[in-house]
Amino acid sequence: MQLLEIQSSVRQERSVSRTLLSKFIYQWQSFHPEAQHQLRDLGQQPPALITSDWVAANLTPLPDQTEETKALLVESDTLIAELFEADCIVLGVPMYNFGIPANLKAYFDNIIRVGRTVEYNRDTATFNGLLTGKKALIISSRTGSYAPGTPAGAMDFCVPYLQFILNFLGIQDVEYVEVPYQGMGGEMQQQATETAIARLMELAKTW
Ligand SMILES: Cc1cc2nc3c(=O)[nH]c(=O)nc-3n(C[C@H](O)[C@H](O)[C@H](O)COP(=O)(O)O)c2cc1C
Repeated sequence: MQLLEIQSSVRQERSVSRTLLSKFIYQWQSFHPEAQHQLRDLGQQPPALITSDWVAANLTPLPDQTEETKALLVESDTLIAELFEADCIVLGVPMYNFGIPANLKAYFDNIIRVGRTVEYNRDTATFNGLLTGKKALIISSRTGSYAPGTPAGAMDFCVPYLQFILNFLGIQDVEYVEVPYQGMGGEMQQQATETAIARLMELAKTW
């Protein structure tokens, strides 16, 4: 069993998503002592933004690949191999400007490749995700609260996007724990944090 931890907060110190994800993993590992653990820290080491040359390299059929095109795809190949090795994927994702951090978007641009992580069916004009048999957990910290169904919920372009993109990749089993009111201080922040931790500790038993 392989656990892939993906961190995307640019903060190392005082990061809520990092702290809660670590707490979850620590608890989860006590139920899965045999599990291997791999960290992909996008906040600390953001993947390169894709470029025109990268897109061209990605579209080059395998027999026509050169040393240059292969070199452009090395980082993407590494990230994809790591994802295929994982059985369980946990993502720490702060909301930045109503969406995901740019480093995480760069990550998805690197790993979503036709023929590698998704298949395209020309007859039906549909995509088929190839990362099947995996599950994911999203822990998203934010200053507001964006519960689905509330007016603020419509402003959350972070978690609905993540849920969609993970499904698109073939990961259908996606859990989500919101950590709202972060940075507000006081009772509200404390209560929201405690609620999220309690939910994560419960989830660690069954996930
Ligand atoms: C650049 C930036 C943009 C942010 N945008 C939002 C936002 O749109 N909505 C929100 O509720 N919180 C927003 N926040 C607050 C963070 O989501 C919140 O501080 C969260 O705890 C950050 O995660 P971290 O503690 O793991 O770093 C933003 C914070 C930063 C640094």
